[in-house]
Amino acid sequence: MRRADRVTRRQVLSGGGLALLGLAGGCTGARLAATRGPSGVSRASPAGPEPGQSGPATEPVAGPRTRVASLTARETDVDLGGQVVSTWAYSDQVPGPLLRGTAGEVLEVRLGNRLPRETTIHWHGMAVPYDQDGVPGLPLPAVGPGQDGHYRFVLPHPGTYWYHPHVGVQLDRGLYGVVVIDDPHEPGDYDVELVVVLDDWLDGTGRTPDEVLRRLAGGMAGMGGMAGTGGGTAGGSAAMPRFRSPLLGGDAGDVGYPYFLVNGRLPGAPATLRALPGQRARIRLVNVAADTAFRVALGGHRLTVTHGDGFPVDPVTVDTVLLAMGERYDLEVTLEEGAFPLVAVAEGKGGQGLAILRTAAGATPPARARPAELRRRLLRLADLRATADVALPDHPPDRVHDVVLEGDMMEWRWTINGHGGGDMARLPVAGGERVRLRFVNLSSMFHPMHVHGHTFQVRLGGRTGPRKDTVIVLPLETVVADLVADNPGHWLTHCHNLYHSESGMMAVLDYVS
Ligand code: C2O
Ligand code: CU
Repeated sequence: MRRADRVTRRQVLSGGGLALLGLAGGCTGARLAATRGPSGVSRASPAGPEPGQSGPATEPVAGPRTRVASLTARETDVDLGGQVVSTWAYSDQVPGPLLRGTAGEVLEVRLGNRLPRETTIHWHGMAVPYDQDGVPGLPLPAVGPGQDGHYRFVLPHPGTYWYHPHVGVQLDRGLYGVVVIDDPHEPGDYDVELVVVLDDWLDGTGRTPDEVLRRLAGGMAGMGGMAGTGGGTAGGSAAMPRFRSPLLGGDAGDVGYPYFLVNGRLPGAPATLRALPGQRARIRLVNVAADTAFRVALGGHRLTVTHGDGFPVDPVTVDTVLLAMGERYDLEVTLEEGAFPLVAVAEGKGGQGLAILRTAAGATPPARARPAELRRRLLRLADLRATADVALPDHPPDRVHDVVLEGDMMEWRWTINGHGGGDMARLPVAGGERVRLRFVNLSSMFHPMHVHGHTFQVRLGGRTGPRKDTVIVLPLETVVADLVADNPGHWLTHCHNLYHSESGMMAVLDYVS
């Protein structure tokens, strides 16, 4: 098949709560419409067409194309597949609408906040300008209940990203969605795209994330209050973690979840991703969970990893990949004929999420399918190397910051460089510097460390690793991450375990000049 045929025939599938959309139109279920404005300045565009209508005419005006989307955050009932839960979601969908555009285009999002609390949207992994980062007070205030917020920025780098609130533990409700930024120079040699979103779920099942955080923050003293909560929250004790995984270096998490979802669906009523045998699929895996790392495999297939956190890597073929909270991997797979389980095991927790990848008739794999690939070759950080075009050139750092991660399990207090709570550690940098962050984990738990506004270069014993914005730091391990200070602001640097960050594991990368 010629490249042109592949591209025009390409489909984008996500199943579950995500919208089915075509690339040619570039619109999404978010009523994302394309308009052109003079020199990229927005002309108050309405929120695009309803699904099923065609987009507005695009005028041949110079300047970057603008993609417009409208999201409404509100309390709603969501069907997870036989189980209806009351939660908070974007535009009544879990995951929220898929947002998509091409690097260099402008994305303009109106957020209607119909929640009872203030909220924001943070663009995870995207190097947006500081005033679009969606962190309350850094620099703009949150969007109050009943108010509208607006975000507008140039889509920076191609890749797989996502969005979520940066207020309290709202992310552990249904407030999340995927952003795909296409590469104008690289159409991609694949026929079908599958967006796969992994989540741990408890909202609407008898506990809210806020209650979970309260109990955890109560530390051991709060454990007595757990009786009768049905499932418990902070399990076990400091000495004996409730969830254990050798892959994660021991303690696998703090929160017991009743459900694990793939594209918003329970394993008993999974999303079905349809394609044709022989097609080359690009699978965009996103872990939006709050406290769960997932080990993912596709029965009957090997996985060629092509991107980590949006940025390309030299391709490496494995059988299974581990994603911590906030991480993404893009995979390339040539599809066999049949129906295959795409399984996301909640690492160290026992349960799993499931989607079905179907290219032909045949029996649907069972909800508890455990493909043998899960126990075969696992992708390691050391397997990954940024491609030459995105690798940061070798350069001695102008400044080095140790980012020391510690936890007091008895008090359930998490710190960076000894700071926690309202008193965040500051990591000063100057514009233009090459900055080295050394994430030093002195705790007995893994932490997926995330830096806002930058995609750092992981260094592996002096050698070039992948570009990442979120990286697993195992217990008693140090991960070295270099970045170019080219996006002035005050950027959160935190653990993407939502309950850790909300309990103090947050610092600020501070541009001081
Ligand atoms: Cu997903 Cu502060 O980040
Ligand atoms: Cu952590």
